[in-house]
Amino acid sequence: MFTNKLLTCSALLIILLLLSNAVFSQKFISLPNVGSDASLEQANLFTSSSLTTPTSSTTGKPIITRSTSSITPPTTKTTSTESPTTTTPVISTTISPQPYPQPSVGTWNTSCIMLQMAAQLNFTYEAKGGNFTNGLYNIPNNASVEDSECKSQTTQFIHLIWGPETSKQSILMYFDKSNDTTVLSSIQIHLTLLSEDFPDAMENQTVQLIHKSDGEFKTPEKMSYHCTRVQKMNMTETLDAKQLIGWISVSHVQVEAFRMANGTGFSVAHDCDSSETSDVVPIAVGIALAALILVVLISYLCARRRSTSRGYMSF
Ligand SMILES: *[C@@H]1O[C@H](CO)[C@@H](O)[C@H](O)[C@H]1NC(C)=O
Ligand SMILES: *[C@@H]1O[C@H](CO)[C@@H](O)[C@H](O)[C@H]1NC(C)=O
Ligand SMILES: *[C@@H]1O[C@H](CO)[C@@H](O)[C@H](O)[C@H]1NC(C)=O
Ligand SMILES: *[C@@H]1O[C@H](CO)[C@@H](O)[C@H](O)[C@H]1NC(C)=O
Ligand SMILES: *[C@@H]1O[C@H](CO)[C@@H](O)[C@H](O)[C@H]1NC(C)=O
Ligand SMILES: *[C@@H]1O[C@H](CO)[C@@H](O)[C@H](O)[C@H]1NC(C)=O
Ligand SMILES: *[C@@H]1O[C@H](CO)[C@@H](O)[C@H](O)[C@H]1NC(C)=O
Ligand SMILES: *[C@@H]1O[C@H](CO)[C@@H](O)[C@H](O)[C@H]1NC(C)=O
Repeated sequence: MFTNKLLTCSALLIILLLLSNAVFSQKFISLPNVGSDASLEQANLFTSSSLTTPTSSTTGKPIITRSTSSITPPTTKTTSTESPTTTTPVISTTISPQPYPQPSVGTWNTSCIMLQMAAQLNFTYEAKGGNFTNGLYNIPNNASVEDSECKSQTTQFIHLIWGPETSKQSILMYFDKSNDTTVLSSIQIHLTLLSEDFPDAMENQTVQLIHKSDGEFKTPEKMSYHCTRVQKMNMTETLDAKQLIGWISVSHVQVEAFRMANGTGFSVAHDCDSSETSDVVPIAVGIALAALILVVLISYLCARRRSTSRGYMSF
């Protein structure tokens, strides 16, 4: 009778721990940005409390091993973020083509748009033989602002140009505002393939690359959009075309359109990742705390029941 109760109690405890364990590993693995300081801090907070409380309150069952296994998902994640730096290319003695350089970050201002980004294109063009091939191209960070639409309160753009006087290259970025939200509406790029950049390209070739936005760079009014990681956007030849002819990869983006003319610097940043993690972490911590309280409660009740039944036997 008494052993029966003890068994059900400990079985209940183990099931609970397993459950919270499963919830946890899922929550933390699904975090989109593991490197974020906030999520790591929260994870550490939980692991330290889960280590101390259950051991002091439980009845000597080997539950510690269960709770330590719940720590492993976050810790292995943190170590894995460091590992890529250790891999170094060994085959550098052979004369091989240099990898195309990473794009550098540029900053551009107009009276209504402030833009900071690094951008690289990967697109298809026609080679001399008539075959199509892929090429990479970085938007130079010394491109200059050609013009900008600032009067409209619904659609604004910034127009950057670079390259030799006779064959200007350009990028246009359009922004829309509605419902107190600013969003990128399209990117339009016009390239003349110069022989110094694309020696194998068919002569006098121009390429038009258009990205129709899928809601990128979305941010509330009077805030700037911020995103450090690389974002890849599909590009087609015309606005309606279905066939992809390339991608633009943007990183280190901070952009703000529909600015007041008298503002200085970027407004408060709306980060592309913090908005996603901000509600996942509190939910995970909440579930953990609830599970912890349940565990403590059940072990307390079990311990009390055992001690009272012992008391009966000794009398
Ligand atoms: C560019 O696109 C081609 C075709 O999809 C791909 O094979 C190549 O890896 C891409 N290059 C980079 C640097 O992304
Ligand atoms: C074009 O592609 C075809 C098939 O892939 C190949 O046989 C031919 O040699 C290529 N031509 C040139 C000029 O590279
Ligand atoms: C931009 O930089 C490139 C090399 O980085 C240089 O060749 C070019 O003259 C520069 N253009 C301007 C307008 O400064
Ligand atoms: C947001 O804008 C859309 C049309 O652009 C409109 O249908 C919708 O009602 C707006 N929502 C709010 C909350 O204003
Ligand atoms: C390219 O343009 C130049 C100058 O506009 C011209 O002289 C040349 O013939 C053109 N090449 C081809 C292949 O059309
Ligand atoms: C970009 O193109 C790929 C391949 O066609 C497609 O799977 C993906 O959904 C496209 N992304 C967007 C945002 O259109
Ligand atoms: C600057 O902007 C604020 C609103 O952000 C406005 O109240 C103020 O009048 C502006 N000052 C000037 C000199 O334009
Ligand atoms: C852009 O504007 C900000 C604030 O108005 C200023 O601090 C910065 O120097 C400007 N940058 C350029 C490249 O004009």
